[in-house]
Amino acid sequence: MNYEEPIEAPSWLLPAVYVLDQWMGRGASPRESVAAHQTRGMATDERAQIARIAYAAIRKDRLLAFALGEAVDALDRNGRAAAIVLGEGVSCGELEPEDARELFLRWSQVELAWDDVLRAGALARRVEDSTQRFALSHSLPDWIAELLLDEFGEEAEAFASALESDAPRAIRVNTLKVADRGELAMRFADIGISTTFGRFAKDALVVTDTSSLFDTEAYRSGMFEQQDEGSQLVALVTAPPPKGRVFDACAGAGGKSLAIAAMLKNQGRVLATDVHKGRIDDLKQRAARAGAFNVECEQVPEDDWPQHIAAFAASCDRILLDVPCSGIGSWRRRPEARWMLEPKDLDALLRTQAMLLDRAAHALKPGSRIIYATCTTLRRENEAQVEAAMQRHPSLELVRIAEILGKAVAQPIADPTGTFLSLRPDRHGTDGFFAAVLRKKR
Ligand SMILES: C[S@@+](CC[C@H](N)C(=O)[O-])C[C@H]1O[C@@H](n2cnc3c(N)ncnc32)[C@H](O)[C@@H]1O
Repeated sequence: MNYEEPIEAPSWLLPAVYVLDQWMGRGASPRESVAAHQTRGMATDERAQIARIAYAAIRKDRLLAFALGEAVDALDRNGRAAAIVLGEGVSCGELEPEDARELFLRWSQVELAWDDVLRAGALARRVEDSTQRFALSHSLPDWIAELLLDEFGEEAEAFASALESDAPRAIRVNTLKVADRGELAMRFADIGISTTFGRFAKDALVVTDTSSLFDTEAYRSGMFEQQDEGSQLVALVTAPPPKGRVFDACAGAGGKSLAIAAMLKNQGRVLATDVHKGRIDDLKQRAARAGAFNVECEQVPEDDWPQHIAAFAASCDRILLDVPCSGIGSWRRRPEARWMLEPKDLDALLRTQAMLLDRAAHALKPGSRIIYATCTTLRRENEAQVEAAMQRHPSLELVRIAEILGKAVAQPIADPTGTFLSLRPDRHGTDGFFAAVLRKKR
């Protein structure tokens, strides 16, 4: 190496430091910062690289800071952001430790342990305390490490490792616009986008390159929605009867409402509500693009359903409760999430989940079903919530997933008893999802 020549900063460095700095400073969503920083002229590959490095740096913040040494703690915010991003640059092989050192000296004269970044995992594994060791190795807050060790036991390692990988780029083919996924796969192939069929959901395609999907004609004309396969499977488990009435009580921006609308072939009725106005506004736009005319959207207050909504709940075939949850199953997509969840949030989520289950159980008519779904893998938010709801409401009985989807389809995606939808990133490659189906006895 020629030490006379100053090293040229890689193009991802400043944008990635900006993303971390915004996140550290004002909790800005990394996804939004990546989007805000991107210029129209930037190549898709370059954009993908910025996102990849910034997301990995956030996810690995604790492990990288540990490897770089205590001096990191004394840095100002921008300096820390630069140190962590450069650390990730070394960790993923984009930079040599000596290059990172030289680049970092443009932020601060502080010397950091750049060589140690390459053996961060090995250093973390030397920590004596087993919870600390697990927390550092997987770059998790201590309380989350404790929670995962408690819930998963021997499988905690595999689960936490899976959360460190990137999520697949799954989409759901909109059968209101396209015959099937084979047709969309061919259209994509014609414009150089490569895909494979999803493993579990019949309308799922997985995009296997970094092509931009959202400036395609297929997107503008509503032929697909970005949606994890696990989320698509929750919609399948909802299994509305033909021309049925479905109440999606926590619809968000409507990923599942739109999938259900397509399953109903634009017939029947889907009422989609959420407490969040912005999400309902997004849903209206998405429904229009998807050509889903059987979806109505409404914002509702948090504490109770207005009378006309309660009346719909009392008359419908399915109430989908895709409840707010810790979201651990989708942490691959939100690298910042592990640093944002606090123990008190989990307690509040457990209360909201139980409250929504009670509300739906009261409204549900005999023979109709509640689909209780989460994107978490924690027992306390899943099986334990369902068991407790059944104790509080003895009129509810479980319908097994195997009964709804058939044994062969259900087997790989259900728990060992075939009762619940039970998906995990380490086992299925999808986001972690859970669903239970509860029917009111006649
Ligand atoms: C897991 S997200 C829903 C995701 C959405 N179903 C989808 O498929 O994209 C949970 C949603 O519940 C909403 N929520 C939280 N508390 C609620 C309440 N009391 N009533 C209705 N929705 C609520 C949140 O605003 C959030 O959008």
